[in-house]
Amino acid sequence: MTEQALKALLDSMTIQEKVGQLIQCNAGQFIRNQLEITGPDGETLPTEEVCRIMGSVLTFEDAEQAIALQEMHLAADPKKIPLLLMLDVIHGLRTTYPIPLAMGCSFDDDLMAECADMARKESSACGVHVTFNPMVDTARDARWGRILETNSEEPLINSRMGAAFVRTAQGNDLSDPGNIACCVKHYAAYGAGEAGRDYNTVDLSERSLRQDYLPAYKACVDAGARLVMPSFNALNGIPSVANKWLMNRILREEWGFSGVVVSDYNAVGELVAHGIAADHKDAARLAMEAGCDIDMVDNSYYLYLADLVREGTVPAEMLDEAVMRVLRLKNELGLFENPFHGADRVAEKRLYLCPEHRETARRAAEETAVLLKNEGILPFREDVKHIALIGPFAEEKHLNGFWSRPGAERDTVTIPEGIRALLPDTELTVERGCGAAIGDTDTGGIARAAEAAAGADAVILVLGEPENYSGEGRSRAELNLPGPQMQLARAVLAANRNTAVVLFNGRPLVITELAETAPAILEMWYPGTEAGNALARLLWGRANPCGKLSAGMPRSTGQYPMPYNRMNTGRPKPPPDCKPAPFTSCYLDMPNLPLYSFGYGLSYTTFSYEKLEIDRNEITKDEKLHVAVTVRNTGTRAGKETVQLYLRDPVASVVRPVQQLIDYKKVALEPGEKKEIVFTVSEQQLRFFNAEGKEISEAGEFLVSAGYADHLLLTEKFRLA
Ligand code: GLC
Repeated sequence: MTEQALKALLDSMTIQEKVGQLIQCNAGQFIRNQLEITGPDGETLPTEEVCRIMGSVLTFEDAEQAIALQEMHLAADPKKIPLLLMLDVIHGLRTTYPIPLAMGCSFDDDLMAECADMARKESSACGVHVTFNPMVDTARDARWGRILETNSEEPLINSRMGAAFVRTAQGNDLSDPGNIACCVKHYAAYGAGEAGRDYNTVDLSERSLRQDYLPAYKACVDAGARLVMPSFNALNGIPSVANKWLMNRILREEWGFSGVVVSDYNAVGELVAHGIAADHKDAARLAMEAGCDIDMVDNSYYLYLADLVREGTVPAEMLDEAVMRVLRLKNELGLFENPFHGADRVAEKRLYLCPEHRETARRAAEETAVLLKNEGILPFREDVKHIALIGPFAEEKHLNGFWSRPGAERDTVTIPEGIRALLPDTELTVERGCGAAIGDTDTGGIARAAEAAAGADAVILVLGEPENYSGEGRSRAELNLPGPQMQLARAVLAANRNTAVVLFNGRPLVITELAETAPAILEMWYPGTEAGNALARLLWGRANPCGKLSAGMPRSTGQYPMPYNRMNTGRPKPPPDCKPAPFTSCYLDMPNLPLYSFGYGLSYTTFSYEKLEIDRNEITKDEKLHVAVTVRNTGTRAGKETVQLYLRDPVASVVRPVQQLIDYKKVALEPGEKKEIVFTVSEQQLRFFNAEGKEISEAGEFLVSAGYADHLLLTEKFRLA
């Protein structure tokens, strides 16, 4: 439809029909007729009328439901305005790839794009028009359960991977049924909730917000994301969904975002609980005034917005602008011509879990694993005869992580299945040993497990935290291995030193004792559908671990927040980190540095950083610096290394981090092979937000280094004129 036709459609709508475009209901209310439509105060709403006028639904299961929903709505709506169908496709639809935090550990934007393409194909066949993804919240505190959902603690990685997801999922033409629109979230700074508690309040200086929290959302908006979802949290005293500065001033005016803003689930109504709305009518006004177009499920708009407009509290133009944004998105998706978009039952069957998608998921699971420790245990020998597979996750199917689609576990390749597929002749003894639930104290199975370990040639000890311990509403105050897992670990490690610990977890955990006592530790995160196949290939060396931590692993929960790009302070702690240094910025009872730093990860081979060369000692604002890093594979097996480039600005008008990742490139090297990786550094990468919140660069000296956080190996100085 043309803009004029859309305008004519708008002008033909009643106020309540316009409001209808701004309400989003749970699909389940219509598909299974089990859920009534309720208002924010629990009152029951007229399902027929809502179905007739509603603009969008979320959370349906497949193409059949998508088609049924659209048909049902269009039959009821005299204006024939198609529904928007939205769904959380966070790390795959039916073929699940690793959680976003794991994807960040691949440091591979192309791999992210490949997985996004797989998700796009499966989602469009399922009938998805919009995915509530990418989530690019900067997270620096693993007590927050949603750290699993973001790529990294570093906004550069979130920016690059988030933008890669948006470009790939949206393609060049949203009316192409194979493409889906992206909703970047949660805007803004949801990951900075106090004490790591979900939904908790956020208080940040504008400078810190702009420096470390806003860039990744902007990168996704610049990549063309068509929707933005404000976050649940209050930001500097005002919940995002009612925060005019954040939504109108920054998002729409400064960044020029012209797409649709959809609230988070019930977030409009929650303005009452926050204490800035007296009632749901007030909440509807505040959200509208802040530019929130769609009210997700809460129904405050449905009940009160028309009255607010009739009484003049909300200008009619404000309503019209919001409705036009929604109609434009539907139009851009081609829904007026093809309301079913890509929904296709046949395509679903062909695409879901197809060999190509399984291969992508398996490769992603291999590339995101991080080898934290290896004292010659891994890879296991091919001729190993008898393996003991021990631990609470030994036969687990829930290895997909939060936001995997319901039922994803039915497709998971378990560890025993993966090992038997790779090594059919190896004897496998499986012992659960203990549980992994918070408060679980049953150690009855540990003796048997230790016995099994003693009788095996090698042991795989599978530990971690249950899949539903991370994700939304899953914050933890202690990040230990839940239940009696460490008792199990001590017994098994005492019974057989040829033991590799494998971790399944959705957040960095405190594994300080294991780091001392286990001879090998492989971090798998939640690897998704191909978990067992990927793990078997990694353990037996068919794949060589190459992941690097995209968030540091703490020694203790007490170290949080623990950003790698920390400031030096006026009393920096001198080495060695293992001892306190009185009257410096340190702890009496704990080193400062993480157990494993941001950017750290081992391989089955070794790499040496032989030199770092720069092609000039000074650049102007218009010139670029070239930094050449030479890396050699000094081991006996092919491997991939992520070469990371860090910047330090030792003197500036505000304090600057001791290290800041400004670029990364992954390189494959054969044994003995060396390569020169060349980075280009421009003035833009030297910019920061100054005390006035302005993004500037300042002349002076800079340091560029290669290595990983807290372990910068090669450094050169240059100046910005
Ligand atoms: C949830 C999440 C958000 C998700 C939305 C729809 O509460 O906060 O990330 O997209 O609701 O499921």
